[in-house]
Amino acid sequence: MIRYSGRGAFSPEIIDRASGTTVVTEDGRELLDFTSGQMSAILGHSHPEIVATIRAQAERLDHLYSGMLSRPVLDLAERLAGTLPAPLDKAVFLTTGAEANEAALRMAKLVTGKYEIVSFARSWHGMTQAAANATYSAGRAGYGPPAPGNFALPVPDRFRPDIVDADGNLDWRRQLDLAFDLIDAQSAGSLAACLVEPILSSGGVVDLPPGYLAALRDKCRERGMLLILDEAQTGLCRTGDWYAFERDGVVPDILTLSKTLGAGLPLAAVLTSAEIEQAAHERGYLFFTTHVNDPLPAAVGNTVLDVLSRDRLDLRARELGDRLRGGLDELAGKHQVIGDVRGRGLLVGLELVGGPDGADQLGAAVTRRCAELGLHMNIVQLPGMGGTFRIAPPLTAADAEIDRGLEILDKALTDETS
Ligand SMILES: Cc1ncc(COP(=O)(O)O)c(C=O)c1O
Repeated sequence: MIRYSGRGAFSPEIIDRASGTTVVTEDGRELLDFTSGQMSAILGHSHPEIVATIRAQAERLDHLYSGMLSRPVLDLAERLAGTLPAPLDKAVFLTTGAEANEAALRMAKLVTGKYEIVSFARSWHGMTQAAANATYSAGRAGYGPPAPGNFALPVPDRFRPDIVDADGNLDWRRQLDLAFDLIDAQSAGSLAACLVEPILSSGGVVDLPPGYLAALRDKCRERGMLLILDEAQTGLCRTGDWYAFERDGVVPDILTLSKTLGAGLPLAAVLTSAEIEQAAHERGYLFFTTHVNDPLPAAVGNTVLDVLSRDRLDLRARELGDRLRGGLDELAGKHQVIGDVRGRGLLVGLELVGGPDGADQLGAAVTRRCAELGLHMNIVQLPGMGGTFRIAPPLTAADAEIDRGLEILDKALTDETS
């Protein structure tokens, strides 16, 4: 196998099957999946309604010439627009998060006639060209020159503040002002867009402080830039709202969705206003791919929306998120190596700050021990930070599964620090 993850190796066991919150190895060992696969399976694995949709749609209409439209695609576009504030009512469906960001960035550049892109210094937007150029958390070195005109914005990290007020708390307004002073100084006068996650996930589960997104939108407006929000991980109820940006009362110019939209199957979307779509079209907007607007994944997207709204999984994400947070806060009171617990709904970060051989070693050891005890966890390790667990179980998890995961984490932390 080609190893593609940068640092980590593959998990040692081969996975045979999965259902709900449980992943089962070839040897029959069960693991609780606290990462929802690759942060995507918000309805758990092999949800019976998704399985039924795939069966039925594969029999009826799977793939089409990219210039043709089908009912599942039209329905999904209309229904997604119904979950979003005006004027986000134009959609295109793609396959991956990187692809959606690529399509959004091409649109922003074409519509503004500019090319410079601003994103967070710990961002992750994907592995294709423009998305990778806007990704700073990993993978920049060794792949030749990044495209000119990409600028990094410092992360407003309240746990590790770099610019502080008189009380020692993060002064994010000053940080943002200074960041744009620097960006303006470096810009060739071609600022096209800001591309950001409302909660940086691969950047260590950093929730933007309330008010930050509105201030960022204002910075964009002042410069004629578009605001693109990447809700790959935060969209579709995971944070307790349908979209994380709802908390801030900010409507992006372009929204990208991916992971959670297909709930584990490859489906992504770009949504924007009729005005931006029209301007892009008039300038000859091109994003013609093999699987654009394919009916099979769109049908899955419709079923994801059915289940999310029928089962009120936005509310369930809040409820389960409170349970998870409560348990993690208790663990933080007990284990000194836990420096911070943060996040929203069922996207929670737990940052380790110590351990006998440092937070990196401890994070790796706790991850391994959790796996031995039956819990799959993911840790983000970035320079200048401790190790941060990204905890994101499916929205369909049972209370008892959350409790069991907490028990395992507690035991793993105890085992690895004593
Ligand atoms: C916020 C965000 N955007 C985009 C991507 C890229 O998605 P994909 O891997 O589907 O291309 C990811 C993947 O982790 C992500 O977390």
